[in-house]
Amino acid sequence: MKIAMLGWGTVARSLMEQIEKRHDPTLQAAAILIRKPHPLTHPAMTYDYAAILADPQIEIVVEMISGAEAAWNYCRQAMEAGKSVVTSNKAMVSAHYGELLELAKKQQVQFRYDASVAGGIPWLRTISALKATDPILAVEGIFNGTTNYILDHMERDGLSLSEGIVQAQRLGYAEADPSADLEGEDLARKLMISAGCAFSGRLLRDQFKVQGLQGLTNQDIQAFEAKKKRCRLLSVLKKTEAGIQARVEPILLPLSAPLAQIRDNLNAGVLRTASLGELTLIGQGAGGPPTAHAVLTDILEIVKGCPVAPLRLREMKISEAAGDARYYVGTNDQTAPLFSGVTAEIRRSEGRVQLWTQMEDSRQLQALITHARTLDPQLFAARIQEEEA
Ligand code: HSE
Repeated sequence: MKIAMLGWGTVARSLMEQIEKRHDPTLQAAAILIRKPHPLTHPAMTYDYAAILADPQIEIVVEMISGAEAAWNYCRQAMEAGKSVVTSNKAMVSAHYGELLELAKKQQVQFRYDASVAGGIPWLRTISALKATDPILAVEGIFNGTTNYILDHMERDGLSLSEGIVQAQRLGYAEADPSADLEGEDLARKLMISAGCAFSGRLLRDQFKVQGLQGLTNQDIQAFEAKKKRCRLLSVLKKTEAGIQARVEPILLPLSAPLAQIRDNLNAGVLRTASLGELTLIGQGAGGPPTAHAVLTDILEIVKGCPVAPLRLREMKISEAAGDARYYVGTNDQTAPLFSGVTAEIRRSEGRVQLWTQMEDSRQLQALITHARTLDPQLFAARIQEEEA
């Protein structure tokens, strides 16, 4: 079978290597679409998408560019031309999820996107296999390699936040614009896709809160260490009677918590069903070879003629998490007095005021933190996860 690749970045190059290593005459990368002037370093490179669309021998278009809209146009045209689509592009899937599924159904082609969440971990594939037996009750985990790498190396090597970003970029984990990693938007996209896959529901970006690592300092990290806590940026989806809870936020975990052990750029996805209990998948969630591995797995399933489980996204009721919680807040002297009504242990470190609050109504505390952040954009806050009894 012939495929066309869109893009020539880290994932596309790794995919080409993995295809060439197979020496499989039944799978041929017949075209690589190049969008900007570029030396034609591979014989399959072309600027002509119309020729790809018109070639009946090309049955799969593999989209690996960044950004949502151009990618959506390419994928839409490919499906309208009767070709199956495989993508690693979470920006496009999260923005056009329902439309992509509907169009694939209408055109009777396959749409596969396992590589769009958690890179090399068979995450969406596992969710959709397991939910056929038992409804998914909750999904949580670490789904951004860049921020996990940064947190781990701030803790272990004393890197600053900005040094961590530079290293993650150098290692090929970070997005083209690393603020999407740092501010949690990359995770928001992955949460929307995971929600669709787990609950067959449409989760919109304005229906849940996202907090990233902005403002985190080395003094904060030292304060966590002194309290025997480790910070991880977690994504959570939970089915409750009031609706689906969804959020992305930094959490201070006890050192013994399984997710506190996740190092470097590893991702860890935990899913729960009534009869299975918890299942955790840990692995490489970013980088060329693992992501290309997921893309190739999708391609080979199409080549083998494996059907995709039908999926249609419905409206979903969303509910905000309620109840009491404890928070850590690192801020400056001018903003700290805003928290005077909150019972908290207060410490100081090199000009940073560090508050460890007592149990408070989490919504009120979050509203206060959101307001305080408008005065101190370098404020860092994290919910504290209590030790298991
Ligand atoms: N920037 C992303 C990450 C790439 O670091 O996880 C994989 O989605």
